[in-house]
Amino acid sequence: MPTPVPAPERPPLRDSAIMEKLADMRATVGICAYNAGELAAEMARLAPRVEAVCAPTPANARDIELLVTWQLPRDLLAAMPGLRLVHANGAGVNDILSALDGAGGPVVCRTVEPGLAQGMVSYVTWAVLDHFRQMDDYRAAQSTHTWVRHGLSRPSSHRVGIAGAGALGMACAAAVANLGFPVRTWSRGEKDVADARIQHFAGDRALAPFLQACQTIVCLLPLTPETRGFLGRRVFSLLPGGAHLISVGRGEHLVESDLLDALQSGQLARATLDVLPVEPLPAAHPFWDHPRITITPHIAALAGAGSVAYQALSNLLALREGREPENKVDRARGY
Ligand code: NDP
Ligand code: OXD
Repeated sequence: MPTPVPAPERPPLRDSAIMEKLADMRATVGICAYNAGELAAEMARLAPRVEAVCAPTPANARDIELLVTWQLPRDLLAAMPGLRLVHANGAGVNDILSALDGAGGPVVCRTVEPGLAQGMVSYVTWAVLDHFRQMDDYRAAQSTHTWVRHGLSRPSSHRVGIAGAGALGMACAAAVANLGFPVRTWSRGEKDVADARIQHFAGDRALAPFLQACQTIVCLLPLTPETRGFLGRRVFSLLPGGAHLISVGRGEHLVESDLLDALQSGQLARATLDVLPVEPLPAAHPFWDHPRITITPHIAALAGAGSVAYQALSNLLALREGREPENKVDRARGY
């Protein structure tokens, strides 16, 4: 059965009954995040009786019931006997899941919010247009004070494929279709995509027909054992020659040597990488100086602290009340 496609941007729900309960909630919450201060301030606004422990260590983590984080250090995990919920401070949960063995332990949820989708849409549309409008050539021409005009193709002649048709993939698909590009999406399962401009492909058998004729390929898959190394020789060879890769899922999707080979042979014309196999990318890494690779430091999208605080606390409330939390991760599936 095809699954209905989620609305690309769900407004953050601020249910008044939940807000009332949060105002009285008592809990100890650990926060491991670059923006821990901001998250703690948002939590204090929503739930003034909650005690936030920023950057917890095994020495002060004992009472933590909810942890908001990117990663889950194993020594910290062992020091939180009452940990009920790990809420990701973003969309991806691969680093959290890798610390949890099997299906036991805390519930894991992730953040789905409009700010993330807006960030990703602005990044992906910029990257698609930057290459499509040959901006690299114009920047090079400007650096030599050269007035040179290239022909102008129509967006309808340039197909964009998006691997990963989830919350972010579908938001980007709609935005790119709005610019006039033909768009394809690809995911594990069938979907009822209401937008007739978007052609959906499902499953491994549809990978080759999906990639065929995509002059730009955007990777918005989660990192799982199945998707690790997805951006390698096989996928590149199924694209038309001279394609553009936009990698915004996780760095470990990419096989670095296969990317360099594909750029060398011309199978790929350019790569725009927001996520890298090692972050920060080491200063001596060859990608930095490659003339056809654009690097950004994992900035495509960031979750808003207010949304994360609300979703994490209301999910803790749901678990305490025996309700299903929102955006719960399927541990077996890995996303
Ligand atoms: P979702 O979980 O909503 O969507 C994931 C999509 O990938 C789904 O369509 C799913 O298929 C598909 N998928 C998963 N496994 C496979 C597979 N083996 N083969 C084919 N399709 C597969 O995730 P989001 O859209 O919210 O986020 C995607 C990723 O983006 C995150 O996991 C994170 O890694 C990355 N990200 C990067 C950011 C950045 O700043 N660079 C910011 C935020 C997120 P199906 O629909 O059939 O289940
Ligand atoms: C995320 C990210 O997963 O920023 O939210 O990469």
